Amino acid sequence: MSCQGSKRVAVIRGDGIGPEVIESALEVLDAAGAGIEEVPVEIGFGKWKRTGKAMSDEDLEPIKDCRCILFGAITTPPDPNYKSVLLRLRKELDLYANIRPFSKKGLDIVLVRENTEGLYSGLEEVGDEEARTIRMITRRGSKRIALKACELAACRRRLTIVHKANVLHSDRLFLKTCKEVAESSGVQYDDMLVDAAAYNLVIRPEKFDVMVTTNLFGDILSDEAAGVLGSLGLCASANLGERYALFEPIHGSAPDIAGKGIANPVGAIRSAAMMMDWFGDAEMARRIEKAVVWSLDQGITTPDLAGCHTTRKVTEAIANYLLETA
Ligand code: NAD
Ligand code: IPM
Ligand code: MN
Repeated sequence: MSCQGSKRVAVIRGDGIGPEVIESALEVLDAAGAGIEEVPVEIGFGKWKRTGKAMSDEDLEPIKDCRCILFGAITTPPDPNYKSVLLRLRKELDLYANIRPFSKKGLDIVLVRENTEGLYSGLEEVGDEEARTIRMITRRGSKRIALKACELAACRRRLTIVHKANVLHSDRLFLKTCKEVAESSGVQYDDMLVDAAAYNLVIRPEKFDVMVTTNLFGDILSDEAAGVLGSLGLCASANLGERYALFEPIHGSAPDIAGKGIANPVGAIRSAAMMMDWFGDAEMARRIEKAVVWSLDQGITTPDLAGCHTTRKVTEAIANYLLETA
């Protein structure tokens, strides 16, 4: 779904490299002429240190009001009772589809990750001797994520349903439902066990096109796919629901490199491009992606890609390319 109204965006910079890469994304959006109206919302570890809460109930108001969120990354506070605010946002805004594209020359994969249930159900019982997490799979949840994946696969090559149905009976429901949806959508599909998929993603990634999977498998496979591309810093995501959308690079706050000015801004910039697509401006999304690919081809890259450039230098190169090719 897309939103073609005003371009008000709740911007959550977060912690660590979050603010650094979001600044880059905003600068590139500006150079592209996106006309975003920014509504800053403070959420994260910094806020937790000041107030004891990483997010307050009032923070949801501007977020819901904007409907669209650009998100950096949040450091998990060292509190045994902390519940991830990112997961809370995904749940409360019902952002059920996490779309994660991975592309470079000869490789073009879209991972479609169910984003609200599975092992992220939040249904947990933790005791001193035993701890349980319920892996919640529903027909409704599986059906809607399968529909989203089939929608993407319909204009591409093929869908691969990734599961562990040989062991997990909950995944039999996921697999059965995805197969039914794929059959009725008429898309070409196959399925693969998640361990084999993890292996194949490394040795023959070009075999994959659209992949659909459950929440935790999708989390793990997406960092693996980022490794296949060469860096977590390259990868973007869109968390989509029927009413709201949240765009974020797939990486975390990277405390090991925060403040050094060397974070790769490309994942955040590509997330901003996905956001423009959601706003209905596919042409602007394409232009931003073209500028990113140009900078990578020129070797204007940060140290994670063995380059010698700073976040600032990469951002300026991409922004200038957009200004010069406007
Ligand atoms: P991470 O993704 O922050 O970092 C993993 C590795 O990748 C690090 O070596 C880091 O330097 C590198 N890296 C990540 N992004 C990069 C970029 N843009 N450019 C260059 N290198 C980059 O994962 P982590 O270290 O496991 O987690 C750090 C913190 O972030 C934790 O508190 C974790 O809970 C949190 N986290 C938050 C999010 C989020 O808010 N979306 C996502 C993942 C992890
Ligand atoms: C991601 C992150 C999140 C997840 C964490 C921070 C809750 O790793 O977006 O991939 O596990 O989904
Ligand atoms: Mn992750």
